[in-house]
Amino acid sequence: METIIADMTRGIDGDMMAKAGQIIRQGGLVAFPTETVYGLGANGLDETASAKIYAAKGRPSDNPLIVHIARFSDLERIAEQIPDSARKLADAFWPGPLTMIFRKSPEVPYGTTGGLDTVAVRMPDHPIALALIEAGGGYIAAPSANTSGRPSPTRAAHVAEDLQGKIDMILDGGDVGIGLESTIVDLTEEKPVILRPGYINQKMLEDVIGPVEMDRGLTADDPNVHPKAPGMKYRHYAPKASLTIVEGPAGAVMDKIRLLARQEEERGGRVGIIATDETAASYPVGIVKSVGTRTDELSISSHLYGILREFDQLQVTRIYSEAFETPMLGQAIMNRLMKAAGHQVILV
Ligand code: TXA
Ligand code: MG
Repeated sequence: METIIADMTRGIDGDMMAKAGQIIRQGGLVAFPTETVYGLGANGLDETASAKIYAAKGRPSDNPLIVHIARFSDLERIAEQIPDSARKLADAFWPGPLTMIFRKSPEVPYGTTGGLDTVAVRMPDHPIALALIEAGGGYIAAPSANTSGRPSPTRAAHVAEDLQGKIDMILDGGDVGIGLESTIVDLTEEKPVILRPGYINQKMLEDVIGPVEMDRGLTADDPNVHPKAPGMKYRHYAPKASLTIVEGPAGAVMDKIRLLARQEEERGGRVGIIATDETAASYPVGIVKSVGTRTDELSISSHLYGILREFDQLQVTRIYSEAFETPMLGQAIMNRLMKAAGHQVILV
């Protein structure tokens, strides 16, 4: 199929948006920007449409989708037993990078929730996303718009790289602002639990609704403890080369990465190094990319996935990354980096 690419980097194109809404209502697939990453949208109330998302991405069918809405009042149609905490969190963070999990209503097909009796819901903070949700009928199921297992897309070109020819349309809204997927909080248990860390961190949630737990499956070393969000168990966000994180005091980290990079080059390998503006000039070996500055966490989060994709294209054989101490987004950035690395960390 031919994929239409609609340029909306300079504002919403009304005709194209109407067309995109029509595609969604007729059961097709439209990729669109959000403030976190690009999503691959379909009508979330239509099981056949959701099934196309899984096929285009090569996504395991037990991995549920997030349903995106544009108005809080639309929540009632798809969720049941909505707790008071949901209203409070929505007032504080919607539209925004927070996904909440509820008991699902019968209107939500199991094909959208991966067979679960719960549904994940989010109201994205992006004018193009909100316009598409309205135009498409109000309920857009969307995972990140990448091929399953690849880093999430943070610009339209990443979506095209993975999905051109497999989906009906891509709405190009330029680069996203955050670059990491939304925080997921499960509100179906007695105590709210974070299933995936993101821009909205534990402290921000607790300031609004009191104690919030972190899913043990995210941090446990015990292989018998699984993350509760089905998607968090896969080795996601994986670059093609093997990635190792080096953690410790800055000087020691740089010494170690220089040494490892030199050894890999002597073996005939090609090395990618993920550094920061503060350190990038200090590596005489390897292909060095600065992910951003340590004084601006969003500069790091918004570039991380793009750099992993660049290293894929450069066909490096190994990637070494510095660890990032980012107080606000730290958990989210290191969570994604650790998953990309398959938990290979060297402490110096
Ligand atoms: O920022 C985001 O959340 C982006 C944009 C497009 O909104 N979407 C996104 O979707 O990251 P996806 O499909 O890549 O990740 C959804 C995650 C998966 O880990 C999935 O297992 C989990 O949410 N999830 C969805 N529904 C769930 C449910 N009912 N219970 C537990 N986990 C759920
Ligand atoms: Mg994803």
